[in-house]
Amino acid sequence: MPLPQLKQTSSRRRLLQFLAASTLFTQSGARAFAQNAAPSKSPDPMSWAPRELVNVISDPKEALDVFDFEPVAKKNLPQAHFGYMATGIDDEVTLRANREGFLKFQLRPRRLVDVTTINMTTELLGTIFDSPIVIAPTGSNRAFHPNGEVAVTNAARTGNHLQILSSGATTSIEEVIAARGAPVWFQLYPRKWEITEALLKRAERAGSLVAVVTVDGGAFTNWETLARLRRSDTRNCEDCHGRSTRDYVARRPNFDGIDISDPASLNIAHLTWDSIKRLRDNAKMKIALKGILTHEDAALAADNGIDAIIVSNHGGGRVVDSGRATIEILPEIVEAVGGRIPVLVDSGFRRGTDIIKALAMGAQAVCIGRPYLWGLGAFGQPGVERVLEILRNETRAVMQQVGARSIKDLTPTMVQRT
Ligand SMILES: Cc1cc2nc3c(=O)[nH]c(=O)nc-3n(C[C@H](O)[C@H](O)[C@H](O)COP(=O)(O)O)c2cc1C
Repeated sequence: MPLPQLKQTSSRRRLLQFLAASTLFTQSGARAFAQNAAPSKSPDPMSWAPRELVNVISDPKEALDVFDFEPVAKKNLPQAHFGYMATGIDDEVTLRANREGFLKFQLRPRRLVDVTTINMTTELLGTIFDSPIVIAPTGSNRAFHPNGEVAVTNAARTGNHLQILSSGATTSIEEVIAARGAPVWFQLYPRKWEITEALLKRAERAGSLVAVVTVDGGAFTNWETLARLRRSDTRNCEDCHGRSTRDYVARRPNFDGIDISDPASLNIAHLTWDSIKRLRDNAKMKIALKGILTHEDAALAADNGIDAIIVSNHGGGRVVDSGRATIEILPEIVEAVGGRIPVLVDSGFRRGTDIIKALAMGAQAVCIGRPYLWGLGAFGQPGVERVLEILRNETRAVMQQVGARSIKDLTPTMVQRT
């Protein structure tokens, strides 16, 4: 994860806008605030997840959808930690756009297909998984539950999901692979070459087969929701987190033994395609690029020997408030790649219908971020297991509803754009 850079603002108008946009505000409260504060801003995403902060579920089994976990996580977690998870950037236009994007595409179900048996088996870079639902890399999972990444790994193993471990994880790649009993993919930011090389070699030695290289960091990120919720947190963040870059990586065991004493060595603003080629030429692992958002870059990735692409705006523009939903970007990327390498996608996927739309439009798999963190923050491993189970159940049901027996039966003709 990029080091967060926070801007302090104290505008009441912006606070009201945030409250109006919060998932966690009651519907009537959100409407009232929206009217008073920001008529142009819809009380999103309430229209997808109408619920209150009271009467939250007390057991993962009670959950009707993945949204049910978010208020429980909000209640359990330190506000600053919840803010780190929930935040987008600037006006969070992209956060809303990701969800609204799905409304621009409709499904075209086929009838009289025998869908008694559904096969969601998915092959990704040589490994077979039980479904196309993938755990996206998220840093610092111990901020959400003491068992952190291991709880997530155990849940991923239960459903045989691909897991991508963040290099900013609070658990080492070795520990996660041991818990999984199988390789996971390893995400890293390409930093100063010596750091990148050390992380790659470590992941290779640990048995990871694929390095997911995130290419969307490097710029200033104005995470206002985090900044606001941090202000409402009574604890002193520095007591746990320290102040320096050294303190930051001390809590991230994948950096053990790697010299990061020069803060400039972590800067990723200078990276170019030459950096990616160097990485490609030196890595034994396969390489996926995460954060590709244009057909131009997708074509460059395929032309430069990259093995896979993840179309991602980092979960609702945590790095740029572009306003473009990844589901809207997906078609141009699929066309540019032309089947040469697999295309994965993430950001805002919350329902089986979201997943099926992306698969029908040509994605090989869909990565999930916040929903499993909601499950983790709410109930630990059983919460993550239930979130993944809900997503599998919904995806399987939608396959039956649209008449697709296997993933390959999901074709572009099953989706239309308004
Ligand atoms: C709390 C949090 C931490 C994240 N950390 C990382 C990270 O370390 N590396 C990375 O490439 N992406 C990171 N991401 C982005 C996710 O991999 C993924 O792109 C995003 O969460 C998907 O969108 P969603 O949360 O709407 O499902 C993070 C996202 C969140 C919410």
